[in-house]
Amino acid sequence: MDKSAVLADWIKPNNMPITSSEQFAPSNIALCKYWGKRDKQLNLPMNASLSVSLGHLGTHTRLVPIDYSADEIWLNSDRLLPSSAFCQRISAFLDLFRKPGTCSFRVTTRNSIPTAAGLASSASGFAALAKAVNESFQLELNTEQLSVLARLGSGSACRSVFKGFVEWQMGQREDGLDSHGIQLNAAWPGLCVGLVKVDASVKATDSRSGMQRTVETAHLYQSWPVQAAHDIVLLKEAIAEKDFAKLGQTAEHNALSMHATMIASWPPLVYWQPESLATMQRIWKLRKDGLAVYFTMDAGPNLKLLFEQADLDAVMRYFPDMEVIQPFGHG
Ligand code: PMV
Repeated sequence: MDKSAVLADWIKPNNMPITSSEQFAPSNIALCKYWGKRDKQLNLPMNASLSVSLGHLGTHTRLVPIDYSADEIWLNSDRLLPSSAFCQRISAFLDLFRKPGTCSFRVTTRNSIPTAAGLASSASGFAALAKAVNESFQLELNTEQLSVLARLGSGSACRSVFKGFVEWQMGQREDGLDSHGIQLNAAWPGLCVGLVKVDASVKATDSRSGMQRTVETAHLYQSWPVQAAHDIVLLKEAIAEKDFAKLGQTAEHNALSMHATMIASWPPLVYWQPESLATMQRIWKLRKDGLAVYFTMDAGPNLKLLFEQADLDAVMRYFPDMEVIQPFGHG
């Protein structure tokens, strides 16, 4: 099934944008990762995942219908070449909603994520774009449908449609209409996420091809969906019980297990730099010395630290350059 077939019932007959729209969506950090697709076209996952959205850090997107024959796409005040991969992905997404040759857009994208933080912006970017398309074409989709729309742009974007803790339910349907985020009814004031930059350069293998290689070549991958399903249960318990050690341990174990499947791929997929491992070792040492700090990592060399506000000063002493976000505000 292709994306247009999935969206057929949601698109209005005239396919014309009615208005401009400006929208924001937050970045999200997965505590249980999405790694591997059961459908590459529709970004349907092999496993459910669970994330926390990063409050005011994310992407602002403005979508304006224009008269020109091609889309004009801006990123953080630079106009991008239409042939760039970024523009092609955005124009292809917009093509899902307009009749060919009928209208173009100026898309202005501004990331409030510090560029040096090494955070992926495709999740917040496609979530903001999905919301803007919904308003511009007056599709009147509900939040779960918006999450489906965002997933068609980039898998993890379906979680960025929501604030707070979000579960991406993997769903069973072939058209993926049951594969979307839902917000957990829970908050954790004082929870801290620290962004530790090891290397902000563009990664060698993007997550799309990385996960495909893992699914196709790593025998270890077979155990991944089983572990992820178990970790989601543990994370939900930890959130309900406010058990920080359980949350941190489960998130760190989950991230390292995902990286084990990457390393077991062929050719091997190692996103770590020597400094990534050195930072992990520092964290293990700090923990041994009694500081409750854990980490998670995505398809790149940077670390995201998890700790509670009571330990903020202590953690900052070891990572003075770290950017800290409190997704639920102060404790
Ligand atoms: O949505 P994508 O294609 O950028 O994949 C995201 C994959 C990870 O960041 C590694 C894990 C996750 O769940 O966010």
